[in-house]
Amino acid sequence: MALLPIIIAPDPRLKVKCDPVENVDDGVRTLMDDMLVTMYAAPGLGLAAPQVGVQKRILVADVSKDENLRDPKCLINPEITWASEELFEYEEGCLSLPDHFAEISRPERVRISYLDRDGKSAKLEADGVLAVCIQHEMDHLDGILFVDYLSKLKRNVILRKLRKLKKQNPEKAVGA
Ligand code: NI
Repeated sequence: MALLPIIIAPDPRLKVKCDPVENVDDGVRTLMDDMLVTMYAAPGLGLAAPQVGVQKRILVADVSKDENLRDPKCLINPEITWASEELFEYEEGCLSLPDHFAEISRPERVRISYLDRDGKSAKLEADGVLAVCIQHEMDHLDGILFVDYLSKLKRNVILRKLRKLKKQNPEKAVGA
């Protein structure tokens, strides 16, 4: 298993609509294992394939707080089949936008259908932080970052700071 470099915004590779996975093979499973290792090491609650340079509809997430009680989720080609009207506000961060956070509102509960590690159809109902996390990672698969929900002014302030950070620390350009 390998730690993968995480792409830091702004970067055109984070603004791409990703392709569905057609075959869930060993390459996909290895990628998901590497993504989980990378996410835990960061540490983060979720990671989407485009953040490590793979334009495929794959995400991993784990919102368990205790590292002895890990509960990794690996979702391939996820789709939201139902979302609650009630919203949940959460201060979101993102491994591609290090050290920036913002309150974002999203449906509090969602049902998702996806393919599991064996390529089988599966369903998941999530609420609270897990629901937020999966929706955030699913946004990545469509090239959407949480800053896209902020005003242009706030978004530009954050992206300008990240651009400056990358210029000062070139190794940060692909995470460090
Ligand atoms: Ni993110």
